[in-house]
Parts: sequence; C-alpha cells; structure tokens
Amino acid sequence: MATSVAGESRAQFSSKIGFILAAAGSAVGLGNIWGFPTQAASNGGGAFLLIYLFMVFLLGYPLLVAELAIGRYSQANPIKSSGAIMPKGLAGSGRALAVVGLITASCILSFYAILAGWLLGFFISPLLEIVGFTEAATWLETFSTGRNLLLMGLFMAATIYIVKSGVAEGIERWSTRLMPVLVVLFLVLIAYIMTQSGAMAGLKMFLVPDFSQVDSGMIHSAMGQAFFSLSLGACTMMVYGSYLRKDADLPKTAGQVALIDTGIAFIAGLLIMPAMFVAQNNGVKIFDEAGNLESSGDLVFEVLPAMFETMGGAGLLVSIIFFALMVIAALTSSISLLEVPVSTASEELNLPRSTSSWLIGGVISVLSVAIIFNFGWLFDAVIVASTEYAQPILGVVFALLVGWVWKRDGLLSELRQGAPEMETSLFWKIWPWYVRVVCPAMLLFVFLS
Ligand code: TRP
Repeated sequence: MATSVAGESRAQFSSKIGFILAAAGSAVGLGNIWGFPTQAASNGGGAFLLIYLFMVFLLGYPLLVAELAIGRYSQANPIKSSGAIMPKGLAGSGRALAVVGLITASCILSFYAILAGWLLGFFISPLLEIVGFTEAATWLETFSTGRNLLLMGLFMAATIYIVKSGVAEGIERWSTRLMPVLVVLFLVLIAYIMTQSGAMAGLKMFLVPDFSQVDSGMIHSAMGQAFFSLSLGACTMMVYGSYLRKDADLPKTAGQVALIDTGIAFIAGLLIMPAMFVAQNNGVKIFDEAGNLESSGDLVFEVLPAMFETMGGAGLLVSIIFFALMVIAALTSSISLLEVPVSTASEELNLPRSTSSWLIGGVISVLSVAIIFNFGWLFDAVIVASTEYAQPILGVVFALLVGWVWKRDGLLSELRQGAPEMETSLFWKIWPWYVRVVCPAMLLFVFLS
C-alpha cells in the first residue's frame, strides 16, 4: 500500500516486473494480434510496418512516459491526477479532460468486448464440436445478433469479475501468468506456417516495403494503431502509472512495455501474413480481383481457422489453445479499460469496488448491446471516433500538459525517484521539449495532411 496525494492508502502492483507485465498485458491485445496484421495486410505490408514502428517509438513512447508520469505523481485516479498537475485555477479543466478520457476508455471497451466475444466463440466452438454439438459449434462461428450478444455478455462478465478482485490479486496475477505462453505458441505456429506453400509470399509482403502504398490515410491509420496498441490517450496508462512504485525508473519501464508490445505485434504479423497466403493457396478467397482484401475485418477469423484445418487432427487442439490465448490477451487489455472508470468511481463516489465494477461494467454492456443492434454503422463509427480521434488528441493534450503546464522541477523530481541520474541523462535533455513541441507538431501534421 502507498499513500496518495489525497492521503489515502492505495493499492499497488506488488513488483516492478508485475507492473511491466500488467502494463504490457494492457498493451498487448486484439490491437496487436487482430488490428495490426489486418492493417498491415490492407496497407501494403512492409511499408505500414515501418511507419508503424516510427509512430510507436517517436510518438507513442514519449507520450507513454508522460501518461505514466502523471498517474504516478499523484498516485490517484485520473480525475485527481489530471487536476493535480494543473496550476490552482485550472484544476477544473484538468478534471474535465480526465472525464473525456474515462468516456473514451468506456467506448473502446464497448466495441472491444464484441470483438473479444467472437474470439471466445472460436475458442468454445471446437470444444463443442468434440463433444458432438456440431450445430451449436457452427452457430458460435457464424455472425448473428444472438451470438454477438451472448459472447459479448460472457466476455464482459469475465472482465468485470477480474476487475472486481482488485489490482494485485486480479489484474497483476492474470497478466503475469499467460503472456509467456502466448509468445511460445506464436513461435511454434510461425515455424509451422513457414513449412506450408505460399508462406514466403506473405513473408515478403510483410517485410519488404512497397512505398507506393504510402499515403496520408495510411499514415493516419498507423498513428491510430500505435496509440491503440500502447493503450494511450484513454487514461489507462495513467491509472496503471498510479499503481506503480515510486522506485521504478519510468523511461526504462515505459521502454520495456513499448518493446514487448511492438515485439508481439511484429510476431503476430509474421504469423498472420504468411497464413493469409497459405490460406489463399488452399482456396480461401483473400483478395478480390483488384487485389484488395476481401473482408479486412474478418481476416483473422477466416485465415486462422483455414490454417488450423490444414493441420489435420492436431489443428483442432492448436486452434483451441490459440483462441484461448487470444481471449486471455484480450482480457488483460479489457480489464485495463474497465479499471479506468471503475477506479475513478470507487474513489470519487466512495463506492465499494465490486459495486462500481458491476455498475459501470453494466452500463458499458448496454452500450455494446446498442452497437450490436446497429452493427452496420455504429461499430465502425465508435472505433473511428475513439481510436482515430479521441485517443490521439487526448494523448497529445496530456503531452502538452506535461510539457507546458506541469512545473519542470516537479516533473524532474517525479522522474528522479526511480532514476537518480535523471537530470544529467540524455533522456532529460531531449524528452521535455520533445513532448512540448515535436509530439504536438507530428499529430497536427498527420491530421492536417
Ligand atoms: N492496447 C490494447 C490492444 O492492443 C487495447 C487497449 C487496452 C486500449 N487499454 C486501452 C486501447 C486503452 C486504447 C486505450 O488490444
């Protein structure tokens, strides 16, 4: 337990590595395994990869340090944290900003739970098939309102259950256990897919950039993807930062989280892009005549099952394990999204954690239900509004606060707690003006072009 600005004792991650894995657990999710490969496949492969890497390390990473620093400084919920770094008269606008962050996180969770529900369906379906419920198994894999509602509800219930259990017992414990398993399984699958014919064409598309595909739309997508993948601009990292011990080195920790996150996106690309071409080789229609992806949204759900089918009997088992890990990766992200409004509500409204978990989880589920009933237009609209606009804008506003509003001494002493040499470090020479000037300029450039 630690003491916050407000003088209350507060939960904390129990170790530095626990924090890194929990923050990486938040970052690693559908964004890496579903979003990134899909975007890369529809935006020229290698060229997208390069621009994405640029966005993660030159825009995302500095903002990640900023968001973590705000949270850890006050060790309180986003509303208190954003108020605390503002000068006296402006505390109110800091708090208002945090409220926008809470709404953004809730909107992201509302579509995330639908997507994750589909993965849950692909996990349960082969199990049903094994015990002979073929019809139910097919139903779970086929798009329908009923299926979407059921699976979303199940996934949301699991998310609420973990968040209700608190930081160290729930979030940290779950995040640390299964991340390594995920990586190992990915590597095994990559080794397998490389032996299949067609794989090399996919590998080439992913690794050899075709710069003719670069345009402003693609750059905007790469930026949105980087913000989404690093969980920026929705107060998630602020909340996780508030649970981080004071002796942790912020720039280093943030670097580790960004590396793990990007590494996993890269590995997912190494699997999905070759798997696409292998599936095409086996007769699955991936590209239309004009060479565009048939249905980018379902890419992963078409390509992976097609790959598992080629594996014969083992395929069933591998597919169960694979989708189980996907669901877990999604859970360690969804809990970080729900944690934002839940921690705030518990502290600001003095509600018991379990009450606020069920209450807010319930409200977000209602939002998901609305999306499911208006899937055709609302699903994409919520995704675009929250990830391509709200997140980058909020991320940069936080950077502006850190760069221009937060007193330099306060900022330095916060960073110095885990890194005594901070003042003379290269990081401190570059980062403060970088988040002041370069990050906002980059964002403005992307939006204006
Ligand atoms: N980063 C996660 C992913 O890649 C999703 C996520 C968790 C997120 N928390 C977030 C996205 C906060 C935006 C904001 O799947």
